[in-house]
Amino acid sequence: MKIVRSVQELRDQLHGQNRIAFVPTMGNVHAAHLSLMSMARRHGDPVVASIFVNRLQFGPAEDFDRYPRTLQEDIEKLQQHNQVYVLFAPSESEMYPEPQNYRVQPPTDLGDILEGEFRPGFFVGVTTVVLKLFACVQPRVAVFGKKDYQQLMIVRNMCRQFCQPTEIIAHETVREDDGLALSSRNRFLNDTERRQAPQLYQELSEIRECILAGERNLLEVENQALRALAASGWQPDYVSVRRQVDLKTPSVEQVENGEPLVVLAAARLGSTRLIDNLEI
Ligand code: PAJ
Repeated sequence: MKIVRSVQELRDQLHGQNRIAFVPTMGNVHAAHLSLMSMARRHGDPVVASIFVNRLQFGPAEDFDRYPRTLQEDIEKLQQHNQVYVLFAPSESEMYPEPQNYRVQPPTDLGDILEGEFRPGFFVGVTTVVLKLFACVQPRVAVFGKKDYQQLMIVRNMCRQFCQPTEIIAHETVREDDGLALSSRNRFLNDTERRQAPQLYQELSEIRECILAGERNLLEVENQALRALAASGWQPDYVSVRRQVDLKTPSVEQVENGEPLVVLAAARLGSTRLIDNLEI
């Protein structure tokens, strides 16, 4: 695996390649990241991964400073996994040599709801860095996880509207045996919180079962989950059933007619904010 730090080195390494499969990450590599890289390997060659903790997508009160940075361990994991040909790990000054005044602005109806409501500016930061990374790597395909469902949809729409030649491929959410979705932030959970953390996925599963069993009062099932989480010490931001196609709230008729749905949730456990979702 070649490790490159600058855009110029990256271009030199990738010159003439036209089947590049790309997996952007913020590092602290875990099994889900590795699985995305294996999937990339099945859709293109060579596989390029990036590790860059993107300041632009963190709010002023968020965890940019304490976000886990474990580059040496990450490199070892990637080397052992043996699927990545080039790792792009730029410094902040390499990605942002000047103030990033030109930014991608996702549409409000997708960028300012759910995660975007609770993390203002988050998706501006994500789409801006993804567009920049795509300009550096010029991939034919890029793999994103469904764990970040809204991010996946926004990146996909951005690529379509900006005529990007990159196909966005979705990877299923990778979970621990107890259901907890893998995340770099799980390492912040203490033992008690870690035992409690699978409850988020359990609430989503319960909502899914209710709807499949014929429940049509979505607000009621959402509120039940919010109450259950709060009663166990979580501070939930949202639990919301949406249409898969555009993340809008479905009408009762649409639910009746089998509209593909997804239930999304975000909640804080102690100082750790977790997100998850489940397709219905
Ligand atoms: P990061 O959180 O490091 O995630 C990198 C990729 O791994 C994303 O596509 C994310 O959806 C996927 N991923 C993380 N945990 C997953 C899980 N349990 N199952 C499936 N996929 C999972 O997402 C980002 O970084 C950043 O926003 C980024 C796109 C790199 C832009 O900075």
